[in-house]
Amino acid sequence: MSNLENTILVDLARKLFRGCTNFHIEPDSVKLMTWSWQELFVDLTLRSPVIKKYPISTELSRIFLKKLINCIEPVQEVHDNLYAELCRAMNNSAIEDYCYRHYVISNDLNNIITMKETKNMVVNGTTGMRTWEAALMLSDWILCNKELFSSKDVLELGSGIGFTGITLAKFCEPKSVTMTDCHEDVLQVLCENVDINFPSQCKNRSSDGTTYELDNVSRVANLWNGWTDFDGTFTDRC
Ligand SMILES: C[S@@+](CC[C@H](N)C(=O)[O-])C[C@H]1O[C@@H](n2cnc3c(N)ncnc32)[C@H](O)[C@@H]1O
Repeated sequence: MSNLENTILVDLARKLFRGCTNFHIEPDSVKLMTWSWQELFVDLTLRSPVIKKYPISTELSRIFLKKLINCIEPVQEVHDNLYAELCRAMNNSAIEDYCYRHYVISNDLNNIITMKETKNMVVNGTTGMRTWEAALMLSDWILCNKELFSSKDVLELGSGIGFTGITLAKFCEPKSVTMTDCHEDVLQVLCENVDINFPSQCKNRSSDGTTYELDNVSRVANLWNGWTDFDGTFTDRC
């Protein structure tokens, strides 16, 4: 596969992984989406082990595949596997409270952060059940400035379901990351997301939080709900 074909594949796969259906494909790019390109695209995305284990929303994959097939159909023969995946998504009409989104780090399809989240901005009175665009932008900045966090104790206020803190813990080698939120349901999903992204870590639950020992050294992710009486002086006390 040429570099350009690979770039188009990774770019489109990243969008599908994170449930983004608002994409545009240039006519020149469609010409490169050959039968074998399409087969590889399905294998690396909808049939990949990570999506089999943590499925993306069927509604979003249905919209995505319809749009992709509409682009390809006038120019190329559409691969059977694309149609098969569309049929599968159309047959699944279950109402999903949660789905998974996968965020590709550094354009590497093997380097993924998986988040259990909702599609809605507000659920049960909280805005914390989905990853906000601001969290993605902040995480991009953090990944470009990893050295600022190396060996540091990092406190995140209002972590939501955890994308920023998990990214930092995974890629910046901090000494510790403390993620906080005031909403019980959010903390529950935050714990699940840490479990998903650090599957073999040792976990301890105490009355005031959940502590994960990362890679058996001193790195710790502590999920804590103690920010509710935040008075603005916490930074000084740190
Ligand atoms: C807009 S969401 C952002 C979540 C996450 N940082 C992101 O960008 O995806 C704000 C989060 O802050 C939490 N929050 C708001 N006020 C809080 C407070 N006083 N104490 C603790 N958490 C709070 C909410 O529960 C919610 O999960």
